[in-house]
Amino acid sequence: MSKITTARLQAMKQAGEKIAMITAYDATFATLFEQAGVHAILIGDSLGMVLQGENSTLGVTVDDMAYHTRCVANGSDKAFIVADMPFMSYSSPEQACANAAALVRSGAHMVKLEGGDWLAETVTQLTRQGVPVCGHLGLTPQSVHVFGGFKLQGREADQAEQIKHHARALEAAGIQLLVLECVPSPLAADISRMLSIPVIGIGAGADTDGQVLVMQDALGLTSGYVPRFTKNFLANSGNVKAAIETYVAEVAAGRFPGPEHSFN
Ligand code: KIV
Ligand code: NA
Repeated sequence: MSKITTARLQAMKQAGEKIAMITAYDATFATLFEQAGVHAILIGDSLGMVLQGENSTLGVTVDDMAYHTRCVANGSDKAFIVADMPFMSYSSPEQACANAAALVRSGAHMVKLEGGDWLAETVTQLTRQGVPVCGHLGLTPQSVHVFGGFKLQGREADQAEQIKHHARALEAAGIQLLVLECVPSPLAADISRMLSIPVIGIGAGADTDGQVLVMQDALGLTSGYVPRFTKNFLANSGNVKAAIETYVAEVAAGRFPGPEHSFN
């Protein structure tokens, strides 16, 4: 695998090649996942839950993100590295630029922001100053208390239209990648067709340009509530690398996610 860039991700969308992304938070897993063929690694603020044991992502700081971004970057050579901007770290374009700089200096190639058209100016400023941006729409976990829980978004027609509107606005502002989380598959398919940038789904069906999973879910390490859209790839593999090779292959072939992992 040659080095993955924004240009390569864009070319993959054009060619209809599916993008496989997974979270990682340290060098050991970053190296293994890259060897297994993942194109992009996300240092998700999900680390608040899976590493820190909190019940939301709201406590994660820019310093936490910078630390884990550096760990991942040190273990990775070819994968495209996306780091989450944590809760309240991008409330203004100026604040976003200062905090994104810390993540880029730690090794991120791109930063991810949760939210819609109100982030347009922030997206444009970051991009102008050299930081590519990934959007995140649908179930945006930093807004868990606004939603009243981690639930499917965009089920009603008016909600679905809103999500489409925000996707268009973010693309116009300059995002180069979009994550759609927990939305009905037909909506994710529409948005993936509508946008010219790659759309990465999680709980968004198979008709996006790629998939992302939290590594603990993909390896069946999550105890307690396991979301419907995840799959334990380790169960039928001998080791972690083989498990993630299977994930990459199933994403490429359009076999994961199946209907049982999706919402219609
Ligand atoms: O924090 C995270 O792991 C994420 C993915 C679930 C998309 O944002
Ligand atoms: Na996140």
